[in-house]
Amino acid sequence: MIVPKHIGLIMDGNGRWAQQRGLSRSAGHKAGFEHIPPVLEICHDLGIQIVSAYAWSTENWNRPKAEVGYIMHSLEKYLSEFVKELHKRGVRFIHSGRRDRLSSKALRVLDEAVTLTEHNGPEIFNFVFNYGGRAELVNVTRKLLAEHVKLETISESTINHYLWTTGLPDVDLIIRTSGEHRLSNFLLWQSAYACVYVTQTYWPDVGRDDIEAAVKYYNEAMVK
Ligand code: IPE
Ligand code: IPE
Ligand code: MG
Repeated sequence: MIVPKHIGLIMDGNGRWAQQRGLSRSAGHKAGFEHIPPVLEICHDLGIQIVSAYAWSTENWNRPKAEVGYIMHSLEKYLSEFVKELHKRGVRFIHSGRRDRLSSKALRVLDEAVTLTEHNGPEIFNFVFNYGGRAELVNVTRKLLAEHVKLETISESTINHYLWTTGLPDVDLIIRTSGEHRLSNFLLWQSAYACVYVTQTYWPDVGRDDIEAAVKYYNEAMVK
């Protein structure tokens, strides 16, 4: 069995999970956020070193104001507790995404999480928040121009260096929950060769069976 080194989770379906139970979308997001640690535990047990979890896209700001407000409030309020647990387990936390539109409190919490865990590893939790693959490439271009990087020196490894995921290997396997067969702007450059597995399960219900089935699917795809 080949264990993927870096997996990407497109954590979709919080809204539908809540609707199915007659709950608010916010309750779905709460359940979704609380479901990250158990899934990380499963990944750890399977020997997966790097998990990139897509929690908020640059397009998600178009959602109803109350929903956006709830997500931002949750980040400010609960992220540091979550990160303390990661730290206890020796996991390094990184953030991939834009900084604009995030509150100063949210930025502080994110920065503190990165600093607290910066010497941890080899396990990494990459929190993909306020992220878009296209926005990332725009950001890379801006940085290259701002730093006057010489045209003839720009290679694929230069781009890799300027991505928010700098230093991380490519994504081996993407798991998208809730049945949608879309990438929705997730780690576009890093997933050029990723195997994509879609499960019908809504994110808050994802269990060991789903992750194991995805790893099995990845193994079958690898031998073809
Ligand atoms: C994914 O769940 C979480 C975020 C995008 C924040 P959704 O909120 O997209 O849930 P559905 O797709 O409406 O069920
Ligand atoms: C993708 O889910 C983004 C996240 C999981 C954060 P969406 O629900 O936003 O994606 P679309 O709108 O179905 O493409
Ligand atoms: Mg969705």
